[in-house]
Amino acid sequence: MTVEEYILSHSDPEGELLATLSRDANVNLLRPRMLSGHLQGRILKMFCRMLSPKRVLEIGTYTGYATLCLAEGLAEDGRVDTIEINDEMEDFIRKYLDQSPLSEKIRLHIGDAMEIIPGLQETYDLVFIDADKRLYTNYYDLVFPLIRPGGIILADNTLWDGKVVEETIASDKQTQGILAFNEKIKNDERVEKVILPLRDGLTIIWKK
Ligand SMILES: C[S@@+](CC[C@H](N)C(=O)[O-])C[C@H]1O[C@@H](n2cnc3c(N)ncnc32)[C@H](O)[C@@H]1O
Repeated sequence: MTVEEYILSHSDPEGELLATLSRDANVNLLRPRMLSGHLQGRILKMFCRMLSPKRVLEIGTYTGYATLCLAEGLAEDGRVDTIEINDEMEDFIRKYLDQSPLSEKIRLHIGDAMEIIPGLQETYDLVFIDADKRLYTNYYDLVFPLIRPGGIILADNTLWDGKVVEETIASDKQTQGILAFNEKIKNDERVEKVILPLRDGLTIIWKK
């Protein structure tokens, strides 16, 4: 048994719907590794359990896996807004949202987060940034005014497969995007932050 198997066998199961979604993605989608998966999904749910948020925003839906995990931990009258730019994912996402008892708590926006966020008339308790790595600083700047003081931003993939400590290749815009984001967060005195070495790196940011 590996340590990861041990962790998963001693943590909550992901449940039948998410396991089916995950299998479906692995068989039928091109980049199934992008979805959060069992361990990170349970951690996202646990963050929500601890914060009991009324309003959550996810930037980058992909399959809806993390969306459903975030929705599991919402406050009673809570809601998740999730934004996905790739309209070809809509049928896949809706297929699973529709099977969930939490579907009424989820609002799916198809389009570019850079265009949709300015039109959201909400104050968020929790934001999960998990879309285009080249645009992380842009998402952050756009969403920051919508987050309440004491609210949390989670940013995924902030260690980017260890590339953050390797020599950067000039053409690798994704690594450059993550490096710029990490630098910006480090120097932002409006927030407290820590990088959790979970999976591909998950930064936890607390707005003062
Ligand atoms: C890593 S996946 C998201 C995984 C999902 N959050 C999860 O944890 O299961 C990133 C997604 O962001 C989407 N995306 C990229 N740029 C975007 C943008 N500007 N606005 C909205 N979605 C975007 C991609 O199409 C892709 O489906």
